[in-house]
Amino acid sequence: MGMKLKIIGAYLFLFLAFASAGKSVYDVTTYGAHLNMDISLALSDAWKDAWPCKIPIKVELQGTLQAPTNPSGFKEGDGWVTFISVDGLTLAGGGTFDGQGKAVWGKHCSHNKYCGKLPINIRFDFVTNSLIQDIISLDSKQFHINVLGGENVTFSHVRVIAPENSPNTDEIHIGRSIGINIKDTTIQTGDDCISLGDGSRQISITNVRYGSGHGISNKTWPDSHDGLASNMHFEDIIMENVGNPVLIDQEYCPWNQCNAKVPSRIKISHVSFKNIRGSSASALAVNLACSSRFPCEDVKIADIDLQYNGN
Ligand SMILES: *[C@@H]1O[C@H](CO)[C@@H](O)[C@H](O)[C@H]1NC(C)=O
Ligand SMILES: *[C@@H]1O[C@H](CO)[C@@H](O)[C@H](O)[C@H]1NC(C)=O
Repeated sequence: MGMKLKIIGAYLFLFLAFASAGKSVYDVTTYGAHLNMDISLALSDAWKDAWPCKIPIKVELQGTLQAPTNPSGFKEGDGWVTFISVDGLTLAGGGTFDGQGKAVWGKHCSHNKYCGKLPINIRFDFVTNSLIQDIISLDSKQFHINVLGGENVTFSHVRVIAPENSPNTDEIHIGRSIGINIKDTTIQTGDDCISLGDGSRQISITNVRYGSGHGISNKTWPDSHDGLASNMHFEDIIMENVGNPVLIDQEYCPWNQCNAKVPSRIKISHVSFKNIRGSSASALAVNLACSSRFPCEDVKIADIDLQYNGN
């Protein structure tokens, strides 16, 4: 199966080009794309011509690509822009993927509920040996970036911007992937900044600054299936007025979707929190609520210096 780029409606752009093997450039304007029109077709055509010219392939976005405001063309789990089975992709150019989430937040699903029908801004499905750098994901309707089945993918200077109160706009969700690096960026979003789903291995997150949102998360729900989460290390982190600076919560049960009375069956082990300084907005700065059935094992806490700055 060939490498695919799927895009459902994209408007207004300044310049978008594909270059394969560093030689040929496929500028979408030469494929009939103009300002303020749907350029999905032009994009797909450019991609079709570009990718058979051998990897690596570079997609460069300069300017802003806007998603349709109406989400009715999307199915559960869809991405607005989706890269499928691409090896050796570079996505760069300094441009913005504007998901136009403001048009739909809070309207299509009941308040605060996970809204899977809304599209994810950019999906990377089975993308390997790739570099995503200098792009902005703005106001996604749902998750900003989803990585599924990825291997050796680096995100560098990828900015994510969405208001603090936007529902479920996780920055980067990673699942069933190995060797994902996220570095050198600033994130402001309405939910988890980086969330780790099942099958995530060798994930490294460095030099990242979060403005709002839930930080780096992996949550285990009560009454969960069996599972294992281990070797998670948090080091050299500065907190500023953070609600739950250090938290293991195996009783997390959003939207009452689980049976809170049955303990989690996820075993957490080999976790460390080291050199964490700054201020806490809650009096309970370090909270370890482990499963009563499968207690946490080997949790190390060292050099925590957090000042409570509330009343
Ligand atoms: C990982 O991906 C990068 C591109 O971002 C590539 O240069 C590098 O060779 C890859 N590493 C391996 C071990 O394949
Ligand atoms: C956290 O990790 C567990 C075990 O791998 C997984 O089942 C769960 O989906 C993850 N949680 C999130 C929020 O991704």
